[in-house]
Amino acid sequence: MASKRVILSSLAMVAAAAFVQTGHVAGEDGRSSAFARANGTRFTLAGRPFYSNGFNAYWLMYMASDPAADRSKATAALEEAARLGATLGLDYVIAEAKKDGVHLILSLVNNWDAYGGKKQYVQWARDEGHYLNSDDDFFTSSVTKGFYKNHVKAVLTRVNKLTGVAYRDEPTIFAWELMNEPRCQSDLAGKTLQAWITEMAGYVKSLDPNHMVEIGLEGFYGESTPNRTRQFNPGSYTVGTDFISNNLVPDIDFATIHSYPDQWLLTYLFVQTNGN
Ligand SMILES: *[C@@H]1O[C@H](CO)[C@@H](O)[C@H](O)[C@H]1NC(C)=O
Ligand SMILES: *[C@@H]1O[C@H](CO)[C@@H](O)[C@H](O)[C@H]1NC(C)=O
Repeated sequence: MASKRVILSSLAMVAAAAFVQTGHVAGEDGRSSAFARANGTRFTLAGRPFYSNGFNAYWLMYMASDPAADRSKATAALEEAARLGATLGLDYVIAEAKKDGVHLILSLVNNWDAYGGKKQYVQWARDEGHYLNSDDDFFTSSVTKGFYKNHVKAVLTRVNKLTGVAYRDEPTIFAWELMNEPRCQSDLAGKTLQAWITEMAGYVKSLDPNHMVEIGLEGFYGESTPNRTRQFNPGSYTVGTDFISNNLVPDIDFATIHSYPDQWLLTYLFVQTNGN
């Protein structure tokens, strides 16, 4: 199940919509209105409602991998980029998206093993001689948290070679996603993820106050809403996330859920029964 979820998950979501070219006009809150933002239950762009209609291109951030931060991936990333006809990886993708008026949500790491994920960060820490107990130590180890912050800084401060614009100043980026489908099974009460989300959302905003930040949650309820957890989580299952309290972190601009109707239709009895 987990490996299938990775394939289907939204490591990077492309939101296609009419793009209003406005230049950098300061809004009420002092931020440029060229950037997408959340206002109540709506997204706005240039002061007007923004409706998204997108698709999942989970491989985009893979191509963004900084070879210095992720040497083992460099060769494969370049092959992937070449296969797609690109020679400059994510710079090219962002430049093309910008031309086409398409917005991008870019995910900064994967919970799952595909493309390295948190497991690879833990392995790098072990390679440096640090003791880490499990992959969930990704969320608490000062070493892996430092690696993650280095990666975030490398991506956000990168200046796109094609557009000349730093990623953190690029309005075609709709939002940053902290992690694709974070789970922390070793702390189902959710304190570990709540702390990690708070720290990392704050870090992203400290480097980049213009862009929105979302977590990348699948949508599982947690300890703050036990009744919803019992009623709505499949099998009352919990994964160390808390949809409500996680999304109430002040630096989180909007909530996400991931749905897998194809998988659920095939495997979940209640869907088949309801279908009959
Ligand atoms: C948010 O929307 C309200 C109306 O729904 C509007 O009055 C307000 O100016 C908006 N804020 C921003 C920052 O756009
Ligand atoms: C939660 O469920 C319990 C037991 O079913 C019930 O007594 C209680 O009123 C519920 N709480 C809320 C906030 O719905």
